[in-house]
Amino acid sequence: MQCTAARTKRRSAVLSCMENGMQTSRVAGFYDWSLLERQAWLAGQVALDGEQLTALSEGGLSLAGADRMIENVVGRYALPLGLALNFQVNGRDVLVPMVIEEASVVAGASFAAKLARAGGGFRAETTAPEMIGQIQVLDLPDLAAAEAAVLAARERILARADEIDPVIRRLGGGARDLLVRPFPETAAGPMLVLHLIYDCRDAMGANAVNTTCEALAPLIAEITGGRVGLRILSNLADRRLARASCTIPADALAFDGFSGAQVVRGIVEAWAFAAADPYRAATHNKGIMNGIDAVAIATGQDWRAIEAGAHAYAARSGCYTSLSTWQQDEDGNLTGRLELPLAVGTVGGATRAHPTARLALQILGVQTAQELAEVMVAVGLAQNMAAIRALATEGIQKGHMALHSRGR
Ligand code: MEV
Repeated sequence: MQCTAARTKRRSAVLSCMENGMQTSRVAGFYDWSLLERQAWLAGQVALDGEQLTALSEGGLSLAGADRMIENVVGRYALPLGLALNFQVNGRDVLVPMVIEEASVVAGASFAAKLARAGGGFRAETTAPEMIGQIQVLDLPDLAAAEAAVLAARERILARADEIDPVIRRLGGGARDLLVRPFPETAAGPMLVLHLIYDCRDAMGANAVNTTCEALAPLIAEITGGRVGLRILSNLADRRLARASCTIPADALAFDGFSGAQVVRGIVEAWAFAAADPYRAATHNKGIMNGIDAVAIATGQDWRAIEAGAHAYAARSGCYTSLSTWQQDEDGNLTGRLELPLAVGTVGGATRAHPTARLALQILGVQTAQELAEVMVAVGLAQNMAAIRALATEGIQKGHMALHSRGR
């Protein structure tokens, strides 16, 4: 009897959400609903049609689509797609699709987002979507003269670069700058490395940047008198940064036998450990990437590129360290901050070819690559907080298992 009443109450909650067309990411007891009820609610929230619901249930990618995507295809590989709730990013409620095989990640992100919500949610921003294309020049008799020649021809090179992808140019992107980095001594002799700074707009940009660098090679060889070697984008996309921050009232962090102040102190101490020790920083940053990768996979991003960029950025000072910062503010509240390169796209690649990736972008309600990066960096910060809060208090096994059993 009781069970039937609870089910009826849940169903009417689902229906009323659908009728009101509410745009909220805060849904109490979502984990307690049946899978079909969650799908029905989601369909109402983001206007999914029957085909999209089928894609959600069956994975989206057809065998023929898979065969077009990579080589030697013999099948497809399914992973769970969960919805992280409670996220508010720059004042907007966002439902976050996450694809991951690890239990407790979705529940952890949702829990941390609920805590952050108590302090107004996440604030996030991005720099311009500028990628770096590298062109290596070898066999240079006079490195300084080659450098000067490139700088003198800067405008000509940038103009040529802009002729190569008229679509990106029309959309407002294209070549922005040209930097020259001389390496007088390398294992292969003196080397000049050119950095083409290229605004990719809503594309991840690997194709556009690689094509442009390859097309520029003959001109660079002519200008420098050298031999062009590699022409490829850099995954250390440190001009395409995403930043998120949040403030969580200490009171909101209190639980069981832990006061809010104790939890704040524990989180700050956990961060200090990662800031000081690369062995801990690797695990701390892995926790951040649990969240970022899960959204990256859901939305069809090149998550290896994102991983490479994140860890290289974490080592930019010469010492590998934490990507995030956690502090106590003057009112005793917890403040968190995360900054990392996020080379993501909302057009091209798997974002277009994979039906579930397109669906994930629709669920997120993001229009641009920058908006996507803003949500992803907020998810990374939330995931980090969920992990170090558990580690600094009840321990990850108990904390994660509790979340997992609630989250099911
Ligand atoms: C496990 O996937 C992630 C954690 O190890 C992250 C961390 O230690 O901060 C829990």
